[in-house]
Amino acid sequence: MLKTPSGQLQRCRQDFPILKQKIHGKPLVYLDNAATTQRPTVVTDAMKAFVESDYANTHGRIHALSERAQTHFDEGRETVARFIGAEYTDEVVFVSGATHGLNWVAQGFFGPHLKSGDRVLVTVMEHHSNFVPWQQLCQRVGAECVVIDIDDAGQLDLEQLSVELARNPVCLVMAHVSNVLGQINPVKTCVELAHQHGVKVVVDGAQAAGRIPINVSDLGCDFYVFSGHKMYGPSGMGVVYGRRTHWSNMQPWILGGGAVATVSAEQVTFLAPPACFEAGTQHVEGVVGLTAAIRYIESIGLSVIAAHERALGQYIWQALSGYRGCRVLGGMPDCGLISFVLEGMHPHDVVMLLDQLGIAIRGGHHCAQPLMKRFGVMASSRVSCAVYNTRDEVDVFLNALGQVQEVLGAQ
Ligand code: ALA
Repeated sequence: MLKTPSGQLQRCRQDFPILKQKIHGKPLVYLDNAATTQRPTVVTDAMKAFVESDYANTHGRIHALSERAQTHFDEGRETVARFIGAEYTDEVVFVSGATHGLNWVAQGFFGPHLKSGDRVLVTVMEHHSNFVPWQQLCQRVGAECVVIDIDDAGQLDLEQLSVELARNPVCLVMAHVSNVLGQINPVKTCVELAHQHGVKVVVDGAQAAGRIPINVSDLGCDFYVFSGHKMYGPSGMGVVYGRRTHWSNMQPWILGGGAVATVSAEQVTFLAPPACFEAGTQHVEGVVGLTAAIRYIESIGLSVIAAHERALGQYIWQALSGYRGCRVLGGMPDCGLISFVLEGMHPHDVVMLLDQLGIAIRGGHHCAQPLMKRFGVMASSRVSCAVYNTRDEVDVFLNALGQVQEVLGAQ
């Protein structure tokens, strides 16, 4: 039995004006949160206030507005570092999103050293953004990209991982939370195993940030990457956490203003990290929005959010598992994120019919084609919850799915 959410959770829905609208004459039921979450007013207000009163280029606090912009930027970095449990603020680098961040780590940290014969471990459940950069990097230098499998319940094959870790790979890259299966991977265990072999671990936290508490120091990972737009913050904003000790092994590779100390016709000296990794004018309003999103999340509490989403996810999973002709991918999720296939129905048709009823979910391969292949499907439908979703909305979705089955099944 799903418990009614606390008053605080029920009230938080009011913080998201976009949810008040109707779609095709029906109240919007937004269940596509793994793709992007909606933003509370405090986030848009903070960005608007910054742009309207404090906006300037940061470039070294040279005038009053620049001073204010730099202060927002620095506060943002401190807030992010605290939010993810980083030991040092300068372990946080701002990027444009998780895709940018994962490419940045692959090319910037591992790329210059990876050579023919090296091995990189990726899991079969990775989003393309944490799969393709490594696959292509390996192909370019003649290294091997080894894929770690999962079982039918979506659990990582830790036996295969142990065997592969003993074969001296350069790194292991893995999602914290699968964007298709909704389960939380045992990152800490994997990091401990990997570090026993001196293997570095890169974690894609895109689906974890804003859903579950993150503590990079406790996880022990080497890099952790996430986006702002999946955690109630702005798009075009992302974070790479990297251990401070790794920065000295990484040359700045996106070069330009803001990253350098001195430049002559012959040579350049760089600023200290993280500035040397953030060339160009920064997305300061994005940092302001991300900071506001973190404060918003913290005002509710990540453990409250995680418990709420898990309860919704497990409720949906149980309901769908009982539907005739419905195959749910993976086991019971740890989060409010479930993928399923309705027999004889293309996910795009399911999505389009649900849309007519005001319900937004995603259908397709979810940028995880290796995982789709692992489950022997081309595509699936995916429902994904956030803090503002209610049991009533989930029931609307489940009832609507019954109608969709009737419509499509009758064809
Ligand atoms: N990465 C996003 C998703 O899984 C776009 O839907």
